[in-house]
Amino acid sequence: MAAVDVRYDEPEVRVTPPGPLARAVIAKSAAVMSPSCHSEFPLVMERGEGVWVWDVDGNRFLDLFAGIAVSAAGHNHPAVIAAVQAQVEKFLHAGGADVHYAVMADLAEALARLGPGKGRKRVLFTNSGTESVEAAIKLARYHTARPAVIAFYGAFHGRTAGSLALTASRSRYRRHMGPFMAEVYHAPFGDPDGVQRLLDHVVHPDDVAAIVVEPIQGEGGYRFSPDGFLAALRSIADHHGILLIADEVQSGLGRTGRMWAVEHWGVAPDILVTSKGLAAGIPLGALIAPEEIMTWPPGSHGSTAAGNPLACAAALAVLELVEGGLVDHAARAGKVLLDGVRELAARHRMLQNPRGLGLMVGVDVVDDEGRASPTRRNALVQEFFQAGLLAIGAGNATLRFSPPLVISEHEIAAGLRVIDRVFGRHKG
Ligand SMILES: Cc1ncc(COP(=O)(O)O)c(C=O)c1O
Repeated sequence: MAAVDVRYDEPEVRVTPPGPLARAVIAKSAAVMSPSCHSEFPLVMERGEGVWVWDVDGNRFLDLFAGIAVSAAGHNHPAVIAAVQAQVEKFLHAGGADVHYAVMADLAEALARLGPGKGRKRVLFTNSGTESVEAAIKLARYHTARPAVIAFYGAFHGRTAGSLALTASRSRYRRHMGPFMAEVYHAPFGDPDGVQRLLDHVVHPDDVAAIVVEPIQGEGGYRFSPDGFLAALRSIADHHGILLIADEVQSGLGRTGRMWAVEHWGVAPDILVTSKGLAAGIPLGALIAPEEIMTWPPGSHGSTAAGNPLACAAALAVLELVEGGLVDHAARAGKVLLDGVRELAARHRMLQNPRGLGLMVGVDVVDDEGRASPTRRNALVQEFFQAGLLAIGAGNATLRFSPPLVISEHEIAAGLRVIDRVFGRHKG
């Protein structure tokens, strides 16, 4: 599949952002929106096309963040727009928990086919990543009739009450929010012995319903599972009748150059949850599990808008694009991006430990003494923005690049040039 046509060589910053029109919107938001909403940079988006985003003042940005790894097919992909428009003409809502419609059944069939591992799968739709995690916790508890869940330090599984109990990437997400869902235990990410120690000393395996893991910690800092980690979790889970849940909300759907990131390690989870890029930004999440595990009876879980027809129509178009070539494209383009970031890291001392799989690429920012520097990382995010490049942080001091999967080599080169120019202004 060819990437979208390249029509621009560079971002174009005409008015120092945020310009006057952007400032008016930001001021209105600041006056009326919950202060809990945090913005990475003062972007006020007007429209998007492929990997390019325009703000209300006419500036053109190159998007290497994709609304946090969401716009996989690029902004406003014509096939996605056409699918949504066709559905708009028919109906907007039907209540997928109560009635049937073809786009929802078609999408469930596609995801059941794509689910990892052997055997027949079933699909539950939700509205978001966090809801998919909530559903996975409930299904694991229901199926095993056990209460406990093991998660990992650095994990981000969402911010609703149940998933927040698992999230352990920053304590500020949890501050004053407790008490949390009971029976959640954390182990060090990447260390299966840590899980074994929990089972030996803290929570008996007979009480553990599930181990929940991101194969690549996203918000936690683009931290990749060390080799053998997921396989060790798989064998601990199998040994004790515990379910292994992979949270692929950020890493799934082709982003890493495979349909699911777990495939890089040859491990099939029992339950997989996905969301973000699934419906090109229209809220949709999904949980995929084998028939033998999806044993909960009618009425035991559901949600009014889950499996919304517009979202399902968009997702069918997205999956066609992902399966039709974007997975392979992400693998190839990801190598080009990672090589470029490695090359920058070789020349700029403040960039350390470039790493990536497909179009999930991270690099740490350090200070002059070589210590991780969140301050410098945060400043860089703002400087990139001023230069017309959208990229955000992750973890303590990591820069993450998660562009739309349609990004071309030409566009990657444009992004690397902007980054290089920004670094040129610094000593390191
Ligand atoms: C791995 C992972 N799980 C869950 C979530 C929560 O998803 P949502 O923000 O759609 O609730 C995120 C969001 O960043 C995520 O990266």
